[in-house]
Amino acid sequence: MERRKIILDCDPGHDDAIAILLAGKSKYIELLGITVVAGNQTLEKTTKNALNVCQYLELDVPVYAGCGQPMIRDKQVISEEIHGESGLDGPAFEILERKAEEKHAVLYLIETLMNSDGDITLVPTGPLTNIAMAMRLEPKIVSKIKEIVLMGGTYQLGNVTPAAEFNILADGDAAHVVFTSGCPIVMVGLDVTRKVLCYPSIIERMEKSNSKASQLFGELMRFFNKSQKEVFGWEGGPLHDPVTVAYLIDSSVLKTKEMYTEIDIRGTQSYGRTNCDFFGNSGKKANSKVAVDIDTEKFWDIIEEGIKEYCAE
Ligand code: BDR
Ligand code: CA
Repeated sequence: MERRKIILDCDPGHDDAIAILLAGKSKYIELLGITVVAGNQTLEKTTKNALNVCQYLELDVPVYAGCGQPMIRDKQVISEEIHGESGLDGPAFEILERKAEEKHAVLYLIETLMNSDGDITLVPTGPLTNIAMAMRLEPKIVSKIKEIVLMGGTYQLGNVTPAAEFNILADGDAAHVVFTSGCPIVMVGLDVTRKVLCYPSIIERMEKSNSKASQLFGELMRFFNKSQKEVFGWEGGPLHDPVTVAYLIDSSVLKTKEMYTEIDIRGTQSYGRTNCDFFGNSGKKANSKVAVDIDTEKFWDIIEEGIKEYCAE
């Protein structure tokens, strides 16, 4: 079976960490590299978090630090109220031995894509700064990208403002570059990720496999649920980012609809909104497949299977 080659571009982040976990040992995926961006916390912290997760799970995947600031906005938006001071509060990791690669993530993306046969899928689960910067620095990468399967946006309600979702709001201009690039895009937004709520019963189910991975899952999700409850009042936090990886493992987990999606980069209250033309009113050609529904049972089965991969050793 051919494994799908991916680069995970993330800002760990509790749900990003689970995306790494899921991709790390999947028999359907070849995780070529992890590129890191500022988002849930500063770049220094998100990079450290990615390295900690890889070290803990013994994943031999190179990690590259990327952009620490949005393309144009002055201020980096972070999500400390959800992910804590470290960006990955909850688990206590051992002393970090692993180091990020010397190369900047944007240069790694460009070189890897340019040397590829056009068979690499990008999986961004944070602000799109690294991907957009790579596209601007070397526009030729656009035709080399097989597909971009990203977590971000919503055609319904936002989670940072009424209009916008965190990853897109954090760097709307970068999202604009990506959505106007012509690359095939699958947008996995809050519309579906809000349906996979990680209730305590789910944590208990995942912990049954009793491995390092299941332990990490439990420690991360208990903290995540606590802050999701404080901020949004939910008993279980939405496990946003791993939905992208789950889709690459089994695309039938999502139902998608082709839409023209435009990012609001001019608005004030609505900055970062993904205006998805659900009904096709604009008459413009679709530039994205937007996730409109998710098979939640299948999703949790995929997560469970991903965790069990770590038991085989
Ligand atoms: C997205 O924002 C981040 O806090 C999460 O990691 C996820 O990528 C959800 O809006
Ligand atoms: Ca994220």
